[in-house]
Amino acid sequence: RRVAVVFGGRSGEHTISCATAAGVLSAIDRERYEVLPVGITTDGQWLLVDDDPAPLELTGPEPVEITADGLGRGELALRPGDGSLTALTPTGVQVLDQVDVVLPLLHGPYGEDGTIQGMLEMLGLPYVGCGVLASAAGMDKQVTKVLLGAAGIPTAPHVVVGRHEWSRDRVGILAACEALSYPLFVKPARAGSSLGISRVERPEDLEAAIEAARAVDPKVLVESGIVGREIEVAVLGGHGEDAPRVAEPGEIVMDASQGAGEFYDYETKYLAHDAVQMVCPARLTSDERDRLMSAAARAFEAIGGEGLARVDFFLTADGEVLVNEVNTMPGFTPFSMYPYMWEVSGLSYTELVTELIELALE
Ligand code: DAL
Ligand code: MG
Repeated sequence: RRVAVVFGGRSGEHTISCATAAGVLSAIDRERYEVLPVGITTDGQWLLVDDDPAPLELTGPEPVEITADGLGRGELALRPGDGSLTALTPTGVQVLDQVDVVLPLLHGPYGEDGTIQGMLEMLGLPYVGCGVLASAAGMDKQVTKVLLGAAGIPTAPHVVVGRHEWSRDRVGILAACEALSYPLFVKPARAGSSLGISRVERPEDLEAAIEAARAVDPKVLVESGIVGREIEVAVLGGHGEDAPRVAEPGEIVMDASQGAGEFYDYETKYLAHDAVQMVCPARLTSDERDRLMSAAARAFEAIGGEGLARVDFFLTADGEVLVNEVNTMPGFTPFSMYPYMWEVSGLSYTELVTELIELALE
């Protein structure tokens, strides 16, 4: 079987997507699959790239970037924005004609948000992971909350800062935020890896935080900070009539003395390795474990998930389970929580990649 492994992309999570791809390119079962690595540059050009994971690995704070003369073999596959079908060059046609399945290892907008999924649907190509609606819904934290709320799954109290509302009624929005509890978390609705997120301790800092988030996405959420443990739950499958499988929950434990930030921000996630421990199975009572696992399956169902997702929770001291967000293409580096939780649950990284590809081909 030929698999196009697609990574990089136009979002702020380009580097993380490359790190995810480095893991998958190293681990994918080469006896089973022939791999065509396709890198998308930060301006959206598709390139066939070398099948070498090393330059894609995240080894320090410098971003990794796919460029035509860097990682690319220089063969252009697709150039968006031309506004014509000729945007798909002969190389691109060849790539997409030759493959049996696409593994879109893209995080963030233009990848995890239903856009590439829609393109692949139009081409009739099977792909790994969530479809158009679930991808779009999971990408947008406000839409996620609406869908989860309708399914009776609680999330943190919040105020939506709509695109036009902010200029029309700034005073009203700031007043509405007074009902929330500090610290507040201000988040762009559609982003990942904590990009654009601020923790706000004082009302006088709120406006600047909203502006910072608006620079990433014109739609912003202001949320009450939840005091609780951060538990993540991995979901797999869920195609057709089959119920999704849920792995053992994992916990993110941060150690400020080792350089963890004030919250699980970009630096803490990817650069401060000693500051974060992934504990799996998380130390939970059997009741907490059951409730988290069943809420993860229900959240997956509520957004219409297929293939995979990582559902991130807060577990409060009172035992309340709140969903923070649903990631439809969770970080997938060899050091990421999603593959680790499956490993602990009995599925190795290589087996997990095989499983995901075979699910897409079903
Ligand atoms: N958005 C990052 C990759 C994650 O959810 O793991
Ligand atoms: Mg996310």
